[in-house]
Amino acid sequence: MDLDSLKTELESNGQSQLLRYWDLLDTNSQEKLYNELKHLEYSNINKYFKQAMESLNHASDKIDDLLEPLPATVCGSVTRSSQEELKEYNRIGLEEVGNNRVAVLLLAGGQGTRLGVPYPKGMYNVGLPSGKTLYQLQAERLLRLQRLATQQTGKACTIPWYIMTSEHTKQATNDYFKQHNYFGLEKENIILFEQGLLPCIGFDGKIILANTDKVALAPDGNGGLYRALRKWNVLEDMEKRGVTNIHVYCVDNILVKMADPVFIGFCRTKNAECGAKAVEKTVPTEAVGVVCKVDGRYQVVEYSEITLKTAELRQDNGQLTFNAGNICNHYFTLDFLKHVSQVEQENQLKHHVAKKKIPYVGDDKEVVKPTEPNGIKMEKFVFDVFHFADDRSFAVWEVLREDEFAPLKNADTAAKDTPTTCREALLNLHHRYMLGAGSKFVHSDGSSLPDIPCAKKARESGDCRKGENDDHFNKCEVSPLVSYAGEGLTELLDGKKLVPPVQIVMGPTDSEPTILQDITVNGTAS
Ligand code: UD1
Repeated sequence: MDLDSLKTELESNGQSQLLRYWDLLDTNSQEKLYNELKHLEYSNINKYFKQAMESLNHASDKIDDLLEPLPATVCGSVTRSSQEELKEYNRIGLEEVGNNRVAVLLLAGGQGTRLGVPYPKGMYNVGLPSGKTLYQLQAERLLRLQRLATQQTGKACTIPWYIMTSEHTKQATNDYFKQHNYFGLEKENIILFEQGLLPCIGFDGKIILANTDKVALAPDGNGGLYRALRKWNVLEDMEKRGVTNIHVYCVDNILVKMADPVFIGFCRTKNAECGAKAVEKTVPTEAVGVVCKVDGRYQVVEYSEITLKTAELRQDNGQLTFNAGNICNHYFTLDFLKHVSQVEQENQLKHHVAKKKIPYVGDDKEVVKPTEPNGIKMEKFVFDVFHFADDRSFAVWEVLREDEFAPLKNADTAAKDTPTTCREALLNLHHRYMLGAGSKFVHSDGSSLPDIPCAKKARESGDCRKGENDDHFNKCEVSPLVSYAGEGLTELLDGKKLVPPVQIVMGPTDSEPTILQDITVNGTAS
């Protein structure tokens, strides 16, 4: 340990408080703290802090005048495309997958503070009949998609799954996949790498100590991706595998279509290097970022950055002018990622600042949990690289919310984005898949259940017609190993009368799916 040079560095950067408890620590704790402190880049951190405070001081400045909606030329939509176009995008995407040119990259380094569980969000079980966690659903979607691509190309293929974790999630994620035998995927095709951390800083510019021997550190945001890609040589690994298309997504969307061939096919048809999936934002105050242009450059703008008047602007057809809600599903080519991950480009991404209540060690060496914000966390955002795309290289694909977006953000005490809303969204979708495949839902006496569920409010107030309050649409689950997006079910289900709850199940090594029902029509096999 070269304590003297560390002391000098801290002094010259105004951070000597970090050694405040040094003399009280035992040798082990001293070593631990020393190792943490010697890796911090103090002059950079001070520079980020200065920029962060400037941006906080201008937080109330709105950027309305600089905003432009997306040009129609970069946009496409599931609902405005013909069946032929969708089929063609799907074919192109599957061709890419089948030729081993697609990877998925999961952003899973967040701390999941709002959900409030002590383990990574991907391990969360929202209470589906199958009990599957977000990670298991995702793994099975990949397996199914690999099979679909193989059916098209006749070749075995792999979709490597890169998972960005952080100090808070790495070990648990690793152990979880191992414990579950990688859910039938090959171990070497699940590649974990770790994003960086940045210290939390008090409003006075001093780095906060979380404990006598520990700096308060937080992940550097999902835009920490680009630095982490560089540090762990991830892009080299992709190149070696022949990957050229990367689907980046966040962990919490239970409906996520990983490596979605339609999205990939659309982006390739547009020759896009960088793309975003969006859902239509229908309420001006909905708290999602919108994809738009700012001062001529593509960007995602948070609702808080513009005035309500701008958020409420509508086009002649009644749609919101800024309506492309960001769902954190991005497409990048490998070349684009190589470019934006270079130091020069990555340094241009600014830190976003959030005031936070950061636990700190007090004078009596006890950890204090503040009741008011006492400092800031600094984060880069994954979509800030849209800035490097232009009209020729950017594409936005609008999808249906009910098919593709149900994020898990909060515990069930909240009204929105909870385990319950996620579970209902997935089961609802699967109910529609089963209907689309030609099955009918019935009571055990064979009488029909309605296809369209009675609205939740009507159910709660008892206003549903008889037979409509059975909640059956909320009890149908299809294993992703059987169907990725509703395909492949007709043969199994067409003309079948099903009594909910129903599960269509299949193991990773099974060749055929099975229909699981607690009760069948009139006790006869369905
Ligand atoms: C994110 C989007 C927002 C979008 C919303 C939709 C960003 C910055 N914001 O917001 O525009 O409308 O999703 O659900 O993308 N993560 C890391 N490392 C970190 C922080 C986060 O990997 O340091 C990961 C999380 O694990 C998660 C994803 O990034 O998978 C999104 O993070 P989260 O904090 O949930 O973003 P939101 O604020 O919900």
